[in-house]
Amino acid sequence: MSDQLATLLDEQRRFPPDPAFTAAANATADLYQAAETDRIGFWAEQARRLTWMEPWHTTLEWTAPHAKWFLGGKLNVSANCLDRHLAGPRRNKAALIWEGEPGDRRVLTYWDLAREVNRAANAMKARGIRRGDRVAIYMPMIPEAAIAMLACTRIGAVHSVVFGGFSSESLRDRINDAEAVAVITTDGGYRRGQIVPLKRYVDLAVAECASVTTVMVVQRLAGTASAEAGATMKPGRDFWWHDLLRAASSRCEPEPMDAEDLLFILYTSGTTGKPKGIVHTTGGYLTQVAATTRWVFDLKDEDVFWCTADIGWVTGHSYVVYGPLANGATVLMYEGAPDWPNRDRMWEIAARYGVTVFYTAPTAIRAFMKWGTEHPARHDLSTLRLLGSVGEPINPEAWIWYHSHIGNGRCPIVDTWWQTETGAIMISPLPGVTTTKPGSATHPLPGVSVVLLDTKGVALAKGGGFLALTEPWPSMLRTIYGDDARYQETYWSRFPGRYFAGDGAKVDDDGYWWVLGRVDDVLNVAGHRIGTMEVESALVDHPSVAEAAVVGKTHELKGQALAAFVILKEGNHPTAQLKDDLKDHVARKIGAIAKPDDIFFVADVPKTRSGKIMRRLLKDIAEGRTLGDTTTLADPAVVAKLKDQYESDEG
Ligand code: PRX
Repeated sequence: MSDQLATLLDEQRRFPPDPAFTAAANATADLYQAAETDRIGFWAEQARRLTWMEPWHTTLEWTAPHAKWFLGGKLNVSANCLDRHLAGPRRNKAALIWEGEPGDRRVLTYWDLAREVNRAANAMKARGIRRGDRVAIYMPMIPEAAIAMLACTRIGAVHSVVFGGFSSESLRDRINDAEAVAVITTDGGYRRGQIVPLKRYVDLAVAECASVTTVMVVQRLAGTASAEAGATMKPGRDFWWHDLLRAASSRCEPEPMDAEDLLFILYTSGTTGKPKGIVHTTGGYLTQVAATTRWVFDLKDEDVFWCTADIGWVTGHSYVVYGPLANGATVLMYEGAPDWPNRDRMWEIAARYGVTVFYTAPTAIRAFMKWGTEHPARHDLSTLRLLGSVGEPINPEAWIWYHSHIGNGRCPIVDTWWQTETGAIMISPLPGVTTTKPGSATHPLPGVSVVLLDTKGVALAKGGGFLALTEPWPSMLRTIYGDDARYQETYWSRFPGRYFAGDGAKVDDDGYWWVLGRVDDVLNVAGHRIGTMEVESALVDHPSVAEAAVVGKTHELKGQALAAFVILKEGNHPTAQLKDDLKDHVARKIGAIAKPDDIFFVADVPKTRSGKIMRRLLKDIAEGRTLGDTTTLADPAVVAKLKDQYESDEG
């Protein structure tokens, strides 16, 4: 067993809740009991905290693997996130506090935000966008990104947010899969002082998207930068956002949506080359994101909540936009890089706005650690009262650093396990209730049924195994857009009747959950999900590549990095230049986040008799381990063992 894993599993430190926190906490221990006694009734009670236009008649209809929650109920997500806060004192409260990378700042009150959303909704309607239409959103982290999402929900359009770091080809494929009628974008955004020319990428994408009739462009870049970034407007198709909104009325009645109407599609990587369009619906999703925001982040009216995720990922959907706004909270949004212009940018912002609850990813925490404690120490972080982590396993060392240097030893840490597919947090401590252990996500939330399984699907009380969910939860994905067979196959066939998350986990003697990482061919690079097959397809698309195999290797900051084994077509020569070309090719096909760190040119890749690439062996090579000498394995032995079991059972 590696030192790292031994430390993880021998972790003996305990952090009990502070009684003062407990006394004021939103979550209470009796939630577990209530959910245990009547799980479905418990979720109905959470749903009743939302504002419904018509009540539901059936809380849950479950014909595995298809769930329908709150049948017959009607509601509107934007009305829940905005209108219901306008009648009382929250009307003039900051809903969004925003800072751009160059240092520009904006504050939108609930009133301001509602006005903008109404106008954007009317502008969309004026362009012929209707209930049920799909709208792609490809934007940097600016308030209009949230406004565009909320405006879609107001008129019942289905948004598909595509991370602004994805390439034009990725955008094109996602637009085409969803047959989106419109794209909302900006002329550009700022990243590390550079301009990212988003509109130019949209133009390349939309040239091959027959379904798109409207492109709405928010002007983010000032003066000549806009034209320099290549934001040319195609008459009849492209419209400046500000022109459309100027002409639009600030009252748009919210569309009454069925609880099971599509709310959004969000593409994520799977084990094949083609990303999956994860489908979320209206009532169940909002119920669980609102409830988990209240319990896990303990949000109160005075809080300033900063979730650092980009809206292009599910964390940005659930905990930058919908969860906090449904709770009437104040959300902080920052556009740029954490180390721009200096390595204390995050702490400067946290101090400036008096952030109270901060939610980020372990990969960011490890970078902060590396940059040094002097950066947070330079700022007054005394307003912080709760910290969160998401996206990958957090190593105890990073947990302790976060606790000491950001939380000053006072703030509870919530390590939250969930997925694009689960829509909302599933396993997490309840602050004020749960005693935490560094590196453990602790326990399933009330109303969430998690089980540990062996390869045969037998439930285990403790030890290592596969993480599965046994009962439907309100914010679960409903299907994969346009491919229900893939939905059933991907999530429900490995352990029939149960949802297999793709993660390995361990339950310790005290019943604490430790999520260890993916056991399938999905990698987690700096908290971003990347499918090995996707990168392999991008590589073989290059004219000089015959075959490619991609594996993950341990990376100090990113958690995992990509290593690619490439077999060249005859007549091509392995050169340093070709390596760079291949990396660029992957960036062009998918996005810079999928660029392999290492490329190895090889004559062959090891395969099983059934033709499956033996990734474990390649991983050993990528990690620089001696082949066959298992005693030198630096890899967490448990994950490796689980992975082997998983793969051998797959045949
Ligand atoms: O492997 C798990 C890891 O991230 C995967 C889900 O990725 P994605 O759909 O992109 O959503 C990320 C944000 C919710 C999971 O299958 N993961 C997420 N949170 C944790 C985690 N692994 C360990 N601990 C976590 N807290």
